[in-house]
Amino acid sequence: MDTQIRKADHLRICLDEDVQCRQMTTGLERYRFTHCCLPEIDRQDIDLTTIFLGKTLGAPLLISSMTGGTDHAKLINQRLATIAQHYRLAMGVGSQRVAVEQPTVAETFAVRAVAPDIPLFANLGAVQLNYRYGLDECRRVVDDLEADALILHLNPLQECIQTNGDTNFRGLLEKIVVLCETLPVPVIAKEVGNGISAAMAIRLMEAGVAAIDLAGAGGTSWALVESARATDDRQRRLGQTFADWGLPTAECLTEVRAIAPHIPLIASGGLRDGLDAAKAIALGADLAGMALPFLQAAHESEEALYELVEILIAEMTTAMFCTGCENLGALRSPGILQKL
Ligand code: FNR
Repeated sequence: MDTQIRKADHLRICLDEDVQCRQMTTGLERYRFTHCCLPEIDRQDIDLTTIFLGKTLGAPLLISSMTGGTDHAKLINQRLATIAQHYRLAMGVGSQRVAVEQPTVAETFAVRAVAPDIPLFANLGAVQLNYRYGLDECRRVVDDLEADALILHLNPLQECIQTNGDTNFRGLLEKIVVLCETLPVPVIAKEVGNGISAAMAIRLMEAGVAAIDLAGAGGTSWALVESARATDDRQRRLGQTFADWGLPTAECLTEVRAIAPHIPLIASGGLRDGLDAAKAIALGADLAGMALPFLQAAHESEEALYELVEILIAEMTTAMFCTGCENLGALRSPGILQKL
């Protein structure tokens, strides 16, 4: 029940309050595409398709892990999955801890029927491996969702701000190793908006994760979200103090890509339009992920979601046209994006 209330609070706070980082930015604004005045391609031929973990996507976009566990969350998940199927985008659901605790709410996550062809990702907090769960629960959430992979989120700061958060992270890496060895689907390591450094990416890759979602700083601040939920002044202040904590998304991306040229990488955290997404791809990401923009649109209406994806695609396509790039491979060529 507590977990369900927390999930409802998260949706309400993210929709009603300003929980974006204050001073911290993604760092993507420090990059500019080299404009090409004569692209020598037909805009109509621009190809945004890509393959991620074996499935073909219509555009390199991920609807980041967000919700589940309540009726409102179910509606949001159904809308998100419908749009993901229509445009062939990847999608994650929110933490399924609530469904492990209360199996009757598993159906609020169950979107496979409306999205049979997309890469769909289950989600649990890695720290739960130290408290409540083992391989059986991980397997169960993957099976329930008919997921292509399990996202394990790493959220040490969020757990510090949350009243009675789960803060024993000792020995987790070893448990992630065992999970990666035994789970029948790939494991993706993800932050929640504070970023993954190159050093940590190396350790996670050595542990056996199949992909990394950097979820860097510059967008939704989970310190601020948990601060808004806090019932005591100390936790509230802690969240305010750490509002801008973390590694900016662009920094995580360039540093991790430099040391790991081949690992499937998702750039997320503060990406707000298709130009941000195009920059992330140009910097070496395989997919660009967004949470809050999809939540706001899904909350509004199905039409708002269609409009959002149409504009994201138009923005990415325009960036590619005006740099003379016909496909995502070309967008990653040297010289296309400059650091200012
Ligand atoms: C999230 N996020 C998240 N991440 C995760 O791994 N498991 C989860 O259960 C949730 N829950 C959640 C709820 C809501 C309402 C939001 C907005 C976000 C974090 C999310 O996936 C993402 O990493 C961050 O929000 C940063 O991306 P944006 O919002 O800046 O695009």
